[in-house]
Amino acid sequence: MTGVSDQSILEHLQSLDRAHHLHSFTDTKALLQAPPFVIEHAKGSYVSGQEIRLLDAMAGLGCVNIGYGREEMAETASETIRQLSYYHSFSAVSNPYAAALSAQIAALAPGSLNKVFFANSGSEANETLIKLAYLYWRRKGKPEKRVLISRQHSYHGSTWAATRLNGNQPMLDQFGIAAEPEVLKAMAPYWYRYGGNLSLEEFGVEAAQDIEKVILSVGADKVAAVFAEPIQGTMGGVVPPNTYWPEVERICKAHDVLLVADEVVTGFGRTGQWFAQETLGFQADMMTLAKGLSSGYVPISAAVISDEIAETIDNEGGILQHGFTTSAHPLTSAMALKNIEILEKEGLVSRVGEDLGPYLAGALKKLEDHPVVGEVRCCGLIAGIELTKNKKTREQFPLEANLCDYIAQMALLRGVIVRPAGNVLVLCPTFVISHAEIDFLVNVLREALDEAAKAVGLA
Ligand SMILES: Cc1ncc(COP(=O)(O)O)c(C=O)c1O
Repeated sequence: MTGVSDQSILEHLQSLDRAHHLHSFTDTKALLQAPPFVIEHAKGSYVSGQEIRLLDAMAGLGCVNIGYGREEMAETASETIRQLSYYHSFSAVSNPYAAALSAQIAALAPGSLNKVFFANSGSEANETLIKLAYLYWRRKGKPEKRVLISRQHSYHGSTWAATRLNGNQPMLDQFGIAAEPEVLKAMAPYWYRYGGNLSLEEFGVEAAQDIEKVILSVGADKVAAVFAEPIQGTMGGVVPPNTYWPEVERICKAHDVLLVADEVVTGFGRTGQWFAQETLGFQADMMTLAKGLSSGYVPISAAVISDEIAETIDNEGGILQHGFTTSAHPLTSAMALKNIEILEKEGLVSRVGEDLGPYLAGALKKLEDHPVVGEVRCCGLIAGIELTKNKKTREQFPLEANLCDYIAQMALLRGVIVRPAGNVLVLCPTFVISHAEIDFLVNVLREALDEAAKAVGLA
């Protein structure tokens, strides 16, 4: 479909959308009153629609790592569809793309994370890992290990069991989701919110040990796995203290509990290394990948397990009673392979670690002097700007005030997309953003923050 230049065509499409499209995470009633914004085109770090061009400092939903509109990706899609438009992976069938991609992921992944199950979304990959964790413990003769632990402020997806893992109560309440799988919540490594008078290092250890307390509260013999994002993205760009992850790994090992790193956002370079486990210094037993695996060009995700888990499952054999029609799809596998090739060829991961990440952090940190900013947190190209009413007490603005939404709106009017998450503005730009674009983004943010400060009488 070409651009919607004609106003009447645009309005027609908007009315079709309002009548027939049930949107993700959207106020369905409000959408009946206000038309959806229609994005028609995207290139590099910019998206455009309705004659407006926006610098997308969120890379979609933190996924378009290589930037939008790559010609090589379009060519790969058309070549693959011509060669093999579809075949499934059930009953011991494979295809060249999925075979090569599984080996490529194993080669890049840290430690012995060498076996890959393919799905379509991050939620499905987490759902898969819950099942594989249960299967593993059953094969180990410990079927009673079924409790899962996740953390406050976490996000792991929107399928049933993944929703149980989230630290997002409305997602449970709206559908009355309760009971299985049993998930217990540990504290988030969120120093700004919960650190009190502790140093970052002290708090990192304390937050990790909260996981140990939760394990002990139910008994390690009942706990299957800890699911955790290395950096909590969706719920506020929470970068844990350096002391946190090594201690979590130690605790999981000591209590024979599987550690699952949900690298849906952080995987494929966002923290400046291929995986955040390398950046933050820990090794998981299982890992979830999605978003950056194809840079969002096609839906693909991966549930990756260690040699030990794979061997335990393989030893007894039997059919794995799990899978999706489009698991290991030739098209999505080929697109992921091309995406990884581009990341490698253009050195984009080290560009994040050595150049763009430090540059963004340096530019954003200057906002910490702003009257409504409490803390700026950055790791590679993921960042959170936390607002506060009072820099000393770290008091939050009431969520009903929607101050972050207001700031995001002010930024949008000035040509920049950022994502409000409670009292935090989250940024996750593409890996092809330039220094000049980062400067523009930070200037816009300062202006938007000034507007917010005026609105709440803190200017
Ligand atoms: C850390 C994390 N895990 C899982 C998911 C769910 O992925 P999907 O929306 O592809 O199901 C997300 C989505 O934002 C995420 O950020």
